[in-house]
Amino acid sequence: DAPHYILGIDTSCDDTGVGIVELTPKGVHVRANRIWTQAVHAQYGGVMPELASREHVERIDGVMQGALAEAGLKVSDIGAVAATSGPGLVGALLVGLMYGKGLAQALGVPFFAAHHLEGHIFAAASEDNLPAPYLALVVSGGHTHLFDVPEEGKYILVGATRDDAAGEAFDKIARLAGLGYPGGPAIAEAALRGDANAVPFKEPLQGQKAFEFSFSGLKTAALLAHRAGAKPEDLAASFQRAAVHVLVKTTRRAAEAYGRQTVVVSGGVAANTALREAFSATNLRVVFPGKGLNTDNGAMIALAGAAALRAGRAPSPLAAGASAYAP
Ligand code: KG4
Ligand code: ZN
Repeated sequence: DAPHYILGIDTSCDDTGVGIVELTPKGVHVRANRIWTQAVHAQYGGVMPELASREHVERIDGVMQGALAEAGLKVSDIGAVAATSGPGLVGALLVGLMYGKGLAQALGVPFFAAHHLEGHIFAAASEDNLPAPYLALVVSGGHTHLFDVPEEGKYILVGATRDDAAGEAFDKIARLAGLGYPGGPAIAEAALRGDANAVPFKEPLQGQKAFEFSFSGLKTAALLAHRAGAKPEDLAASFQRAAVHVLVKTTRRAAEAYGRQTVVVSGGVAANTALREAFSATNLRVVFPGKGLNTDNGAMIALAGAAALRAGRAPSPLAAGASAYAP
């Protein structure tokens, strides 16, 4: 008798996320997805790790109660618990991981340590019960990684960023141009009023045979253009177009090389409308996460837990630790 409700926790960075999914013979459905977004970091223009850990400690219990209420469940209804063990900020990860282990132990249910990137991929793939094979682009504040997923649960790294993640470039350029934090939505909004032809950006790694990304050059180019007096909205529009172009182009090449027709695009930057439009204009079948599932959240970790259960994976030992750079 498989557990019906799986609770997932993500505290890898600056969002305290708790989600609940329901596992039925027909598939898996998100029943609750609660996120506490920490506002304290805005004044610094970036995440302060120690402050993030402290906020997780203060908020996690309330966020979990909120998720239970949203799903209309009691805590005793939970049949399995999953929590992110990495990659992420270790102090932040530990809060959710320890909370999840304690909860599982108290309820006497299985516990699964989850990989944050697998969670991002499942945020798009699982609710649709998308069958492998597919290519997965995880594009967030911490990652720009392309994986080939030849079969369920198997991830082959196809390419990644050599330097900054795409979301980091959105955040840094927004800060530089005085557009606010987090930078992704701020750039997207400003770009609507800007001229994408105003600032020339050179395509990073043009002509490469591999499937790598690089965003530090775009960041430097943005800094120089800013110093030369480029308008913030023009900078936003031009940078966004350059970033979207290179993300779509490299992913398309990889899909062709690996013979994949389906691409999953997930992570915070997958919320970007221009990126979604550009992917939708390709001849690939592109699957994005649903609303609230792009940026970090607990439901995607619950989805990863559900996948582990369905695959018959053994629960994680309670000794499972957090790691900043989970392989
Ligand atoms: O997945 P996520 O919540 O956290 C990480 O695991 O990094 O991603 C956060 C990143 C931030 O860099 C944020 O600026 C970016 O996703 N982001 C966006 C948009 N919404 C969030 N970037 C571009 N366009 C957006 N609409
Ligand atoms: Zn993430």
